[in-house]
Amino acid sequence: MIFCHCAVVGDREVARAIDAGADTVAAVCKATGAGQQCGSCIFSVRRVVCDHQAQSQDPRKLGSQAMGMVQRTPAIGADVAAS
Ligand code: FES
Repeated sequence: MIFCHCAVVGDREVARAIDAGADTVAAVCKATGAGQQCGSCIFSVRRVVCDHQAQSQDPRKLGSQAMGMVQRTPAIGADVAAS
């Protein structure tokens, strides 16, 4: 299935990028070219990354960290970008 119609990137390309070590949405997009133009495919790519990480049973990489989103750091009360 094609996720990114702008760059013609499908689920196989995304899975290959993840298998090659891309463990964030940003890394997958960089590796595949998805999400670089209109951005409408980001949520589909994010879902595949999260599903893959859930299957690999590494709960530390689930949620906002996998999405490259901003998260709150309670200790200092500041917003920081997740790596
Ligand atoms: S559909 Fe992926 S960048 Fe447009």
